[in-house]
Amino acid sequence: MLFTTASKLSENLKNFRSSTKKIGFVPTMGALHSGHMSLITQAHQQTEVVVVSIFVNPTQFNNSSDLEKYPRNLEKDINYINENYPNTLIFAPAIEEMYTRGCQSESFDFGELEKVMEGAFRPGHFNGVGTIVKRLFEVVQPDIAFFVEKDFQQLAVVRRLVEITKLPVKIVGCETEREPNGLAKSSRNERLSETAREEAKVIFQSLSKLKFAFNDKSPRELKDMFETELESNTKFELEYIQIADEETLQPVEEFEKEKKYRAFTAVIVEEVRLIDNIALN
Ligand code: PAF
Repeated sequence: MLFTTASKLSENLKNFRSSTKKIGFVPTMGALHSGHMSLITQAHQQTEVVVVSIFVNPTQFNNSSDLEKYPRNLEKDINYINENYPNTLIFAPAIEEMYTRGCQSESFDFGELEKVMEGAFRPGHFNGVGTIVKRLFEVVQPDIAFFVEKDFQQLAVVRRLVEITKLPVKIVGCETEREPNGLAKSSRNERLSETAREEAKVIFQSLSKLKFAFNDKSPRELKDMFETELESNTKFELEYIQIADEETLQPVEEFEKEKKYRAFTAVIVEEVRLIDNIALN
């Protein structure tokens, strides 16, 4: 069932809120693929009512051409959801519905989380994400919301947002779906040529090599390894490779026992920015 206004969706959800049924929520920017479907599946497994939002959020794009080129196909997305989970509530609002007082982001204090990686390379991005996720949470009022680990930093920011706003939502992180060659599923993959989409497998392959080498190398050596792997293909422009504490997301110079670490990367291929990460231990 499709809703385009917050009031109609809220009205429909009211019936469920008064019952003991749990509301699950999967926020998306559309151009849905099997990675989204996996989140929707988990939402249907864990909750009785599932809302999927489709909204390309302008305030989280720090680059206007990226926003312009972001793939959009609402009709195809709706059909895709209806074919798989016909009892899903789809919320596809217009910009004015989400931004009633002009298209601007709120400013949040995400602390150190927003100063590194995506936060550092995409100024304002997480304030944009925080603004729309908060607004969507207020409209949907879900019990559980599902986010993919491909955007691991976003997941951490959303958890922090829930702490800041005290909204009663449980956040569930879901494993990244991958193409058969290992490339993380992303709506942006659609913009790659067939050759680049195949060659981009090197991103996950190289991250996997770091995981394999974790016990024998320092963070600096792991980063060097990754850079060498990526440099061998001139199509790839490495924006960053970072070895960070999984909890704080701050970069580390050396490993400590008992702590969990992840490698994070952003790579530009044919002007398309791809991100991925891997748990190292
Ligand atoms: O991950 C995304 O697709 C977006 O950042 C989100 C969470 C839907 C907010 O616009």
